[in-house]
Amino acid sequence: MTRPPVSVLAARKGTTPLVMVTAYDYPSARAAERGGADVILVGDSAAMVVLGLPDTSTLSLDAMVLFTAAAARGAPATPLVADLPAGSYERSDADAVRAARRLAEAGANAVKLEGAGPMCSRVRAVVADGTPVVGHLGLLPQSAATTGGYVARARTAGEALALVSDARALVAAGVSMLVIEAVPAEVAAAVTARVPVPVIGIGAGPSCDGQVLVWHDLLGFGDAKAARFVRRYATLLETASLGIGRFADEVRRGEYPAPEHTYPMPAAQRTAFLERLERGEGD
Ligand code: KIV
Repeated sequence: MTRPPVSVLAARKGTTPLVMVTAYDYPSARAAERGGADVILVGDSAAMVVLGLPDTSTLSLDAMVLFTAAAARGAPATPLVADLPAGSYERSDADAVRAARRLAEAGANAVKLEGAGPMCSRVRAVVADGTPVVGHLGLLPQSAATTGGYVARARTAGEALALVSDARALVAAGVSMLVIEAVPAEVAAAVTARVPVPVIGIGAGPSCDGQVLVWHDLLGFGDAKAARFVRRYATLLETASLGIGRFADEVRRGEYPAPEHTYPMPAAQRTAFLERLERGEGD
């Protein structure tokens, strides 16, 4: 099965909103594809929701390659974007190209990076090397800890205008799509109306060309406090812990495994086995 490129999503700008969901492994990607996601993001949010780290700053490229390859196997028919992790691309164009190639080899058909300014050069280099790039503006999780924390961005006129020009600069550098996180709805709407590529919002209001949520947030598979913009569509942590609790009860009561869960032995073989055991064979 050939994975559709992210370029197929361009035609959806200004039509039915695009649905992006994060996934990090085979089952989460299977669920995203079966649920009808238009595009999957192997986000570096994996650092927190899968690995239990405090932020995304220490996630390695090797880990992202592993997550990307697993998600690619789980969703062979859905465009797949993978995050370039912090530290893998900021220093030089050559670093960015090397890291993007590894994620592309693992199955991603585009990579995402955070920020504009000097990052526009990284976008040009990676695109010229043959890998489409998705930009990420607004709240930038990779640098949030050192730039004011996990709070909404572009809430002043000056910052909002800067975000619009960063979006334009990224588009001029060649991004195929933009993710905008945690900004007022009117700022995201202004960007969406001014750039030719799809804009996917997360905490950026309803006027974007699409919406993304983190798998564990939207499915309730974690117990961290959710951000203001999260709506939960399932309660998987509760379902999973209830299931494990029932398993634990049945094991402790001797109700599991039942006869139907065990492998039968032909009667003659059982008799022979028990006789030979009795004679001391096998000791
Ligand atoms: O890593 C991630 O999950 C992301 C989303 C928050 C867009 O970048």
